Amino acid sequence: MRRLEDFRLKMGRQEMVPIMIGGMGVDISSADLALEASRLGGVGHISDAMIKTVTDRRYKTKFVKAKQALYKYNMDSEDKSAIKFDLGDLAEATRLHVEHTMGRKRGSGMVFINCMEKLTMNAPKETLKIRMSSALDAGIDGITLAAGLHLGSFALIEDHPRFRDAKLGIIVSSLRALQLFLKKNSRLNRLPDYVVVEGPLAGGHLGFGMDWAQYDLATIVAEILAWMKTEQLDIPVLPAGGIFTGSDAVRFMEMGASGVQVATRFTVTKECGLPDDIKQEYFKANEDDIEVNEISPTGYPMRMIKSSPGIGDGIRPNCEAYGYLLDANGKCAYVTSYNREVLAHPGEKRIKVMDKTCLCTHMRNFDIWTCGQLTWRLKDTSVRNADGSFQLLSAEHVFKDYQFSTDNRVAMPEPEAVPA
Ligand SMILES: Cc1cc2nc3c(=O)[nH]c(=O)nc-3n(C[C@H](O)[C@H](O)[C@H](O)COP(=O)(O)O)c2cc1C
Repeated sequence: MRRLEDFRLKMGRQEMVPIMIGGMGVDISSADLALEASRLGGVGHISDAMIKTVTDRRYKTKFVKAKQALYKYNMDSEDKSAIKFDLGDLAEATRLHVEHTMGRKRGSGMVFINCMEKLTMNAPKETLKIRMSSALDAGIDGITLAAGLHLGSFALIEDHPRFRDAKLGIIVSSLRALQLFLKKNSRLNRLPDYVVVEGPLAGGHLGFGMDWAQYDLATIVAEILAWMKTEQLDIPVLPAGGIFTGSDAVRFMEMGASGVQVATRFTVTKECGLPDDIKQEYFKANEDDIEVNEISPTGYPMRMIKSSPGIGDGIRPNCEAYGYLLDANGKCAYVTSYNREVLAHPGEKRIKVMDKTCLCTHMRNFDIWTCGQLTWRLKDTSVRNADGSFQLLSAEHVFKDYQFSTDNRVAMPEPEAVPA
């Protein structure tokens, strides 16, 4: 019986444990988590989602306050188009997060950064270019292009000195998306170093419609592997979404995958950036507590725990401070929905907005609990404390469980002594 440990993820000359911990936005995939993956010989991700919020929290910068002060005059306006990101600040925030992370890196693995195209920031191209080039400047090992087709993203950094040496990968949810990406980028003569194939059971935003349940990761992976073979393309493929045990991973490796990207099992580790009380919500969730809905202003369906406090909340948009989802015209679907409800309920203090959520504010406050479909199985991955709560795991424990387990087994942690 083979274990994930019996395979290696090869990227260029480097050979790694074939486990990649996926990016989880707004610092859920924290530097600590990413660094554990790299220390153990795999790949970890930090994320640049709401990077200024992250650096304010982690490195005591004051980016958000400064932006809010600058645009305070606009708070009561429905028109958010004037709110722009200072590209210098964006570069500085990215540099801080990446340098601090890479400066602590140990072991033979790698640390990548997850860059979502849907963070359009009222200037999609300019901001994405700065985000990617600053991360490369600051020494990140690689960039994973996420949440979007990224047809022009490689071109934005083609003149960067590290364009051909850093690892660059793309997340796709279909063969068609991959074909489109490769076609659009053929002029650059630079293939991605890896392709994450994310299926319908993943956490975060989905690359599927509300008919996600009709798709199956193994089928999509098989299709992509077969096409790559006929095209004689040798790009590592890493399936993602619902890979819960080492045995699940081995099944994909035996199909020809080069590694797996996993996330959900790490949401209940000590290193994960979620607050500890929210990790307990992930542990406790049952299957029918998890839904895919369309409240994300990005337009992509998103999976979350139904009791997330941000669902239905009608908070005033905070674009002056955040504004990460403002599109190229300064619009966000939540702002539109919020204004509609305000108009429909004149004089009401607390309104509800059901069809969209202020994702920036709620992700910042950990009030949207996005999760993978198999979150309901987390309760079977740990032991209970005397007070009924679940014992948090170490990232090393979960990583090694993926690496060494067989027979679909999940290793339980040693119960920790609770101080009297
Ligand atoms: C809490 C959470 C947040 C996530 N946020 C992001 C994100 O910001 N960007 C992204 O590309 N993928 C995101 N994902 C998807 C993961 O990176 C990963 O591909 C996927 O969840 C793997 O499936 P699994 O969770 O079943 O292991 C998120 C997943 C979770 C569980």
